[in-house]
Amino acid sequence: MRAIMNKISKTILSLTLTSAAATLAAQEPSAVNGDASAGAQTYYVYGCYGCHGYSGYGRKDLNNTGSAILASEDVFRAFMRGRADVAPLLPVTDMPNYPANSLSDAQVSDLYAYIRSMPKDVPETGDIETFQKILQAAERPYQP
Ligand code: HEC
Repeated sequence: MRAIMNKISKTILSLTLTSAAATLAAQEPSAVNGDASAGAQTYYVYGCYGCHGYSGYGRKDLNNTGSAILASEDVFRAFMRGRADVAPLLPVTDMPNYPANSLSDAQVSDLYAYIRSMPKDVPETGDIETFQKILQAAERPYQP
């Protein structure tokens, strides 16, 4: 039941974020206030690279995707704070929740600055077989 409620609230949240973000996406990305090199540090310490790669591409690319989530620091912060799977019953590979008591607003600003500074020249990965197998394995549901 809790898992279903989590799923429902996650869907509602993502719909809300998507429509808020769609409004913002029409505009230029907002200013960057944080410190990108401190953000790089946080990116590694908090293990973001484990799912998003060392340079922000792989399973779910981060920068330069035109994503509305990154159109503004405010939307990005809401996304980081608003994840529904706070304590999933089973291990998941979903994006975790990062509440203010584990990742401060300043750290979120720094992360945002770092993600916005990521390079645009992402290499083609479609024909790297081993990499594609890793991505597919990550999509499989957890089976104990
Ligand atoms: C356990 C894997 C995992 C970890 C760790 C993780 N993420 Fe994610 N992240 C995901 C997945 C999967 C998505 C896809 C969308 C979703 O689940 O909402 C995502 C989506 C995102 C997005 C939205 C991308 C877009 O534009 O659609 C951002 C931004 C993001 N993550 C940033 C981070 C940052 C910053 C950290 C570290 C503090 C982090 N993630 C840690 C798995 C992860």
